[in-house]
Amino acid sequence: MATALRAPSTVAQALQHALTAGLERLDAQRIVGGVLGRSRTWLLAHDTDALSEADAQRIAALVARRAAGEPLAYLHGDQEFFGLNLRVTPDVLIPRPDTETLVNWALDLLPSDRPCRVADLGTGSGAIALAIASQRPLADVTAVDVSDTALAVAHSNAQALGLAQVRFAAGSWLAPLTGQRFDLIVSNPPYIAEGDPHLPALRFEPITALTAGRDGLSDLRQIVAQAGGHIHGNGHLLLEHGYDQAEAVAQLLRDAGFTDVSTRFDFGGQPRCTGGRWRG
Ligand SMILES: C[S@@+](CC[C@H](N)C(=O)[O-])C[C@H]1O[C@@H](n2cnc3c(N)ncnc32)[C@H](O)[C@@H]1O
Repeated sequence: MATALRAPSTVAQALQHALTAGLERLDAQRIVGGVLGRSRTWLLAHDTDALSEADAQRIAALVARRAAGEPLAYLHGDQEFFGLNLRVTPDVLIPRPDTETLVNWALDLLPSDRPCRVADLGTGSGAIALAIASQRPLADVTAVDVSDTALAVAHSNAQALGLAQVRFAAGSWLAPLTGQRFDLIVSNPPYIAEGDPHLPALRFEPITALTAGRDGLSDLRQIVAQAGGHIHGNGHLLLEHGYDQAEAVAQLLRDAGFTDVSTRFDFGGQPRCTGGRWRG
């Protein structure tokens, strides 16, 4: 019979409590350190320090949530992306390091010495739009999402980071951008197939940010079909996709009239982003 874990009363007991619940040491240290507002080094030097009852209860509650599989980013309410500290809630996907591949590609294409127009479709926490805006202060960036709650998170991140040049628009893909053209459109849309065996591991994240039809390509298809009418001649469309979708996305881009279609790889060596140039 499982015995209930009692709330810890010292720093060392708090760490042990988390390990006993099945957490990895780093997660245990982040939770205890996060509640106490202390670094990992401090925890090591103060392992016999007593915890207040309130801190002990908070740690026990967070350990239970982490042990049930909830991502650390939702427990802390923030996630680092491209050097920015972003607020995240269960209304938004937790930004992934692999998405920095898309940002780096965008930055390679965007001038730093003159204005340009960029759209980020499916902005979620605002990760891509805000990373680009932080690196290209002259860029006029518009971030779109169909989820009002996600847009509220993205907007609060823009304000917290002082990136006021980012605008936000609610709606589906390019629908809220009628009549507008951009030098660059970027998107990390949902691209997981419905029924994919990895979905249960992602159950804490919004399903609307993850799945896209039976083959995972339905949103990518829509974006490619709509994007040409919103890109200046010689502008670009860059898309993040699943590790096994590069060829399918490249074909969609060629069929839609994009040229110079190529793929970039993520930090793990997987084909992660495919993009092309709009002939205009
Ligand atoms: C994979 S998440 C990417 C979030 C963020 N760009 C990132 O990279 O962390 C996909 C996002 O697309 C949004 N989305 C889903 N369907 C959409 C649609 N039809 N139009 C606009 N945004 C949509 C979701 O709400 C979600 O925020």
